[in-house]
Amino acid sequence: MSATAPDFDSFDLVNPKDYAEHGYPHHLWDWLRANDPVHWYDGSGGDPFWVITKHADITAIGKLPEQFISGPLLVQSHLPIPKERMEFPRTLIQLDPPKHGVYRRLISKRFTPRALKRFHHDIEEIGKEIVDDLLARGSEGECDFVDSISAPLPIAVIAWMLGLPKQDWGRLFDWTNRIIGAQDPAFRTEGKTPDEAAQETMVELFTYFTELAEEKRKKPADDLVSLFTQMEVDGEKLPHMDIMTWCLIIVIAGNETTRNATTGGMLAFIENREELRKLQADEGLLPSAVEEIVRWTAPIIHFGRTATEDFELRGKTIQAGQSVALFYPSANRDEDVFEAPGEFRIERNPNRHLGFGVGEHFCLGAHLARLEMEVAYKYLLPRIEDVELTGPVDRLHSSLVGGIKHLPIRYKLRES
Ligand code: HEM
Repeated sequence: MSATAPDFDSFDLVNPKDYAEHGYPHHLWDWLRANDPVHWYDGSGGDPFWVITKHADITAIGKLPEQFISGPLLVQSHLPIPKERMEFPRTLIQLDPPKHGVYRRLISKRFTPRALKRFHHDIEEIGKEIVDDLLARGSEGECDFVDSISAPLPIAVIAWMLGLPKQDWGRLFDWTNRIIGAQDPAFRTEGKTPDEAAQETMVELFTYFTELAEEKRKKPADDLVSLFTQMEVDGEKLPHMDIMTWCLIIVIAGNETTRNATTGGMLAFIENREELRKLQADEGLLPSAVEEIVRWTAPIIHFGRTATEDFELRGKTIQAGQSVALFYPSANRDEDVFEAPGEFRIERNPNRHLGFGVGEHFCLGAHLARLEMEVAYKYLLPRIEDVELTGPVDRLHSSLVGGIKHLPIRYKLRES
């Protein structure tokens, strides 16, 4: 491997446009892991920060939530970060110890595999209905896999878990697109900067959830919004803004990520036909296949932390107050951890990927995401006789979520 520093002018690690145009820059991350795994990045138009690419280093930082806090800056940018963004109310993912643990414990029991068992049947029904809609179109056809399968499923599940009436489920789709895809020309609002547009959408979302929370207070049900209105810390009900940020984090964190893992998994099966055939022959491989899909797709590109004290890492000093960015997709291809990391292998075991993060902020919805993906594939994949791309993969402008906006496919189904 070359020791010459790569050309970050041709790909800026935090520029949304570069991810839309080229997909993940694995060649750069490979180089960084091998040559400069703790790399000071100041070539972008935004504030400089440390790029962390090794599995072991991301794990170490993720497990030190007091030395590396999430609150001040969770997402790096290729532009100077506007002050208003930092002042926006913090959701769970931006809280730090000790408040983070207190808040997370308020709902973590709802997301354990045991608790989710209660919802298996309903989630299966939601998934089956969405897949059945596609299968009902005939034994051969074309579709956008995102529109037909991978976007509606997580939206429906999250909307149902939150307790939204069915006629409002589509609004969630629009809000997440406009917040996560704020940098994308397809979701941009005329006359507004991406930050202004995202904030405007959040205000819309908060207005909606304020009314919904009011209804749930009067008539509680077995759903998350009802739970948010009843939760207490030190004997006091949560302030209204905390209820809103709970709604926001569930809507945002639960949709785009699962959507893109499901889409990226389909693309991986199209590009690795023998792995598709293996799974079709043995449904028991589904759990390890889903794990490999999360490793392979790693839908979260990076999350940031801020050092609270000087920290030595591989001979470099990360100074108090400096930011780091944890590149999860790079950790998932780390040669020190994975055999043949550049191969998509659905039987991979062990699979200690960091697609769901690590440590204090490990994904709260990991079990739910696994379940949703299993449901999507379980009903669809056994029926696929043939599948191919009919056009280019249309990627999202984002350096946070590795998104696929459209995956046009042609498919041929087997008799059930
Ligand atoms: C394949 C799908 C998913 C992926 C790849 C994913 C990825 C991640 C990652 C990498 C983090 C760590 C954040 C950090 O390092 O700061 C995280 C946190 C989180 N995720 Fe997920 N996620 C997925 C699905 C979901 C779902 C379905 C939910 C539904 C509720 C969810 C809710 C959350 C929450 C609430 C956090 C914050 C946890 C905390 O701060 O303690 N995620 N996720």
